[in-house]
Amino acid sequence: MSKIIKVQARQVFDSRGNPTIEAEVVLENNIKASSIVPSGASTGTFEAYELRDNNKNHFLGKSVYNAVNNVNTIISEKIINQNPNNQKKIDDILLNLDGTENKKNLGANSLLAVSLAVRKASIILNNENYFDLKKEVSLPYPLMNIINGGAHADNNLNIQEFMIRPDSAKNFMDAIEKCFLVIQNLKKILKSKKLLTNVGDEGGFAPSINSNEEALNLIVDAIDSAKLKPGLDISICLDVAANELVDKKGNYAIQSNNFEEVDNVVKYYQNTVSKYPIKSIEDPFAEDDWMAWTKLTEKIGKNVQIVGDDLFVTNEKRLNKGIESKSANSILIKANQIGTLTETLNVINLAQKNNFTTIISHRSGDSEDTFIADLAVMTNSSQIKTGSLARSERVAKYNRLLKIEEELGNKAKMNKIL
Ligand code: PGA
Ligand code: ZN
Repeated sequence: MSKIIKVQARQVFDSRGNPTIEAEVVLENNIKASSIVPSGASTGTFEAYELRDNNKNHFLGKSVYNAVNNVNTIISEKIINQNPNNQKKIDDILLNLDGTENKKNLGANSLLAVSLAVRKASIILNNENYFDLKKEVSLPYPLMNIINGGAHADNNLNIQEFMIRPDSAKNFMDAIEKCFLVIQNLKKILKSKKLLTNVGDEGGFAPSINSNEEALNLIVDAIDSAKLKPGLDISICLDVAANELVDKKGNYAIQSNNFEEVDNVVKYYQNTVSKYPIKSIEDPFAEDDWMAWTKLTEKIGKNVQIVGDDLFVTNEKRLNKGIESKSANSILIKANQIGTLTETLNVINLAQKNNFTTIISHRSGDSEDTFIADLAVMTNSSQIKTGSLARSERVAKYNRLLKIEEELGNKAKMNKIL
């Protein structure tokens, strides 16, 4: 064992150019590992607290010097001399130092940066992989966000993310190739319609289109043009991010800018999944509207993946509630919604025990850190959502999975999807 001798944080910048925190851990034998924490735009109310300075004199209030300082003083003092192989103990120390349920004292960003950097250092120390190379290892299907709307783009699309999933992919390179073909064909189609092909925060196109159906039709056309079969080779996955589309009365503006009652929204989803090859819907309703989620899951949950992101916020208590009330059948996993690796792994475990699929996810503000690719493999998660095949902070995760696939050779298999 080689003890932790130094924990040092610094302010760095995410893919939107906003400040974020990086923590570096140094071990006795000079092994170093670091981790950069991502940041969301459509964040759920129940997410763990992201500590920003709110000092208008620095980076419009977005600087994270206090979080950096927390790591360099309070946290480092207790983490130094610890065994990097004992992740549970490290995370317990972090949780106790903070002492609040939503990590309001030290900030989930400070905690997570250290938690993940320690795990990475321990992997290097033991010359391990995040997964057991002796067993068969499964790679996740990518959910590639190819048309951006909602809070992630400046167009009039209400739904935040239109994604594709290459269901017939035989391996990860094949998955990437199928997505590549759809994306290139979509680009051609957009150009032929004189629509812009510049990309949004997650690398998807953000054309000026006005309706969900227009986006869905464009994607189906692109799948056809790529000579792939919609629904067989490529299915469509949505992230509605409905928190952003609900009014005070609990009505939703999903189909158009008119607010509709839950029953009408459920009908709209039923109708839309019957017309298009949609296999997954994330955040179809707001984070507190448990009844609406249950209604939808009852109606279409057998054939469609219903994914809780803002609903569950990678939180065991909220996931337990969702399991009891049958509100969904899948959970999106974002480690910075909860704050430590141990808590993240516990939620994944709980989900999988209850036959929920787990989808490891990036944030809309992300970085060159590729840890989520390894997390997806090590937790046997069936899917990973990390943007389009554009913007290096997104593609880096796909490149990491290709490297894992190469390393695994014939032990690598694609995971199972619903
Ligand atoms: P966020 O968006 O990172 O901006 O929260 C991603 C998502 O909603 O899944
Ligand atoms: Zn989401």
